[in-house]
This record gives sequence, structure tokens and C-alpha cells, in this order.
Amino acid sequence: MGIQRKMNWGIIGLGKIARKFAADLQIVPDARLHAVASTSRERSTAFAQQFNVPHAFDSYQALLECPDLDVVYIATPHTLHCENTLMCLERKIPVLCEKPAGMNPQEVHKMVTTATLNHTFLMEAMWTQFIPAFKKSMSLLASGVIGKPLSIKADFGFAAPYNVDGRAFNKDLGGGSLLDIGIYPVFLALEIFGQPIDIQAFAQFSPTAVDTTCAILFKHEKGALSMLHSTFTSLTNTEAYIYGEQGTIHIHPRFHHPEKISLHVQGKPVKEFSMPYQGNGYQFEIEEVNRCLRKKLLESPLMPLEKSVRLAETLYKIREKIGLVYPKQDVL
Ligand SMILES: NC(=O)c1ccc[n+]([C@@H]2O[C@H](COP(=O)([O-])OP(=O)(O)OC[C@H]3O[C@@H](n4cnc5c(N)ncnc54)[C@H](OP(=O)(O)O)[C@@H]3O)[C@@H](O)[C@H]2O)c1
Repeated sequence: MGIQRKMNWGIIGLGKIARKFAADLQIVPDARLHAVASTSRERSTAFAQQFNVPHAFDSYQALLECPDLDVVYIATPHTLHCENTLMCLERKIPVLCEKPAGMNPQEVHKMVTTATLNHTFLMEAMWTQFIPAFKKSMSLLASGVIGKPLSIKADFGFAAPYNVDGRAFNKDLGGGSLLDIGIYPVFLALEIFGQPIDIQAFAQFSPTAVDTTCAILFKHEKGALSMLHSTFTSLTNTEAYIYGEQGTIHIHPRFHHPEKISLHVQGKPVKEFSMPYQGNGYQFEIEEVNRCLRKKLLESPLMPLEKSVRLAETLYKIREKIGLVYPKQDVL
């Protein structure tokens, strides 16, 4: 692949997030949307017209045969992530897969093993990791300015209209607040403290038996605590606080793709960091994938596969606490 040529992206599953991602691809100079695939011919044609995509397919398999494809972004519901990722990796096509990488640790292990066996790049689309203000919050923490972190508080909530068929409430599509949005507070806790040594969690359930609200408490090594919350029932601030021995880092709403953070030391505001960006915020993960592919890396140093495995393991342990099972995917 010539260093000058733009990276040719494909997208599988043309729903809501695919549109936002396609818009951000347009602002990344060394990327272009080369091919899209949908289960519907009309959808792929309309999407291709809107985003000026040269190749449109009415099946995911057909996209895999498209010449000059460099990488595929998987934007299907959670329950299809594993299957769709394996389809690509088995043909040695690099993959950026939406979160959660898989429905459970078994699926994520299978994805990681297949990537390794095929020497092919794979990354979970945990875009938070690449947002400039989020990276700043992590570097502030590492600088020691708030001292040792002792606890965090993070939430993600919005009022989702109840619809039994929509992805949020449909068990067959991996519905529930924990896997959809609770994954972000859990990700933050793991970034800061690593895996918990004890977990408490409580949930409320929809008539379709997925969690509409999940409250989580982690105990970590050396007594650190994470207080986490996700919900589809009400709009919450969707912000995060990292409390240290000497100060606090506040990641302003919405903390999973922040544009502002503030630093407090000894209870006093010290500095605000305003780091706005153009676009929807997916351009940073796109740039990371491009960078990794050009360097022939098989995983991102910032979002390695090990992080996806740990995330999946932790989400599964929370599910065990609240009794949330996905019978079609979970190996019981
Ligand atoms: N990173 C983020 O900020 C973010 C935000 C939202 C969602 N996500 C993730 O992205 C994934 C997709 O979310 P979304 O909100 O875009 O969902 P969505 O609007 O429902 O779109 C999902 C797409 O998947 C395809 N699909 C294939 N089989 C399907 C089935 N049986 N039922 C429904 N759709 C099916 C459909 O596209 P075709 O028919 O065109 O193939 C559908 O449009 C989820 O895993 C979610 O966690 C991430």
C-alpha cells in the first residue's frame, strides 16, 4: 500500500452510528469511504449517494469481495459484532468493531484469537480513548497533580422511548443500558484502577428483560472505589469525577467524548481545559486505525485487545450480579 494513497474504508450495517461515522470519515484527510453494505439494497444505494461512496452492496458478504478495501467498520447491533468481525478477519481484512466488541468474554476471545491467527488488525471502537480532552484528563492524572486517585463517579443516562423492537430494549439485539452505555463508565474505571476485586450491582428491568438502569459499585486494589450508573429511564449529567488525595479532575458532559475538563486542587478550581473539536468525534479513532495500519500494527497501543477482553470480563461479572443473561449468546 503506497503511503500516499488514502485508506479505503468499508462500513457494514447502515444505521444511526454508521451515518455519524461516515460524516467523520470525510474530515480525515487520509481516509475515504470506499464501500458500504446493508441488508437492504435501497439503504445501501441511498447511503452511497449521500456520502459519495463508489461501491454499495446489499449483503455483508459481498462487501468482503470488494477490491482495494483496506479496513471495515462494523456498525451492526451488538449481537452481530462477533460474527461480522470474524467474517472480515478470516479474509484478513482489518476491523474496527463497534462497542461492545462482543456480547460476552467468549465472543471477544474468539475475535482476538481469529485476529491473531490471521495476523490481522482488530480494534474495539472505544472512541473515548482517542478524544483529546479525555487524553488530557488521563495525562493530568498520570502527572500526579491530584495525587493518588482514590475514587471515581461516572454516569451515562438518557430517556429512551420504550420500543420493544428498537435496539435498546430488544434482548435479541443485545439490548440493555449496561452493554450500550454503561460500558463507558466501566471503561473509565478500568482505565484508572484496573479490574475490580469486588463488584456490587443493582438493576431495574424492562418487560423485555433487559436492564433499563444499572447501578454499579467496584472495589479495587488498595481500597479504591468506582461508583457507576447507566440508565435508559432519565437524562443524567453524563459526566465523570476522578477524586484524588489532593484534588479532583472533572470530565464535563458528555464525559465519553468530552470537550472540557477542569482541575481542582485542595478544593479550589485551578484550571479549565477547553478542547473543542470539529465533527462528531469519531475522526480520532479513524486516525488511530489509519496510523496503526500504515505502521503494520496488529492492534492499537492505546486500545489493545487486552483492554477489550478485560472490559468484556468485567461487564459479564456485572451481568452475573444483576442476573442479566443473553441466552442466544451466553455459554452457560
Ligand atoms: N460509538 C458510539 O458513539 C456509538 C453510538 C451508537 C451506537 N454504537 C454502537 O453501534 C452499534 C449500532 O448502533 P446503532 O445505534 O447504529 O443501531 P441501529 O441504528 O439500529 O443500526 C444498526 C444497523 O445494523 C444492521 N442490522 C443488521 N441486522 C440487524 C437486525 N437484525 N436488526 C437491526 N439492525 C440490523 C442494520 O443496517 P443494514 O440493514 O443497513 O445492514 C441497522 O441499521 C451498536 O453496537 C452500538 O453499541 C456506538
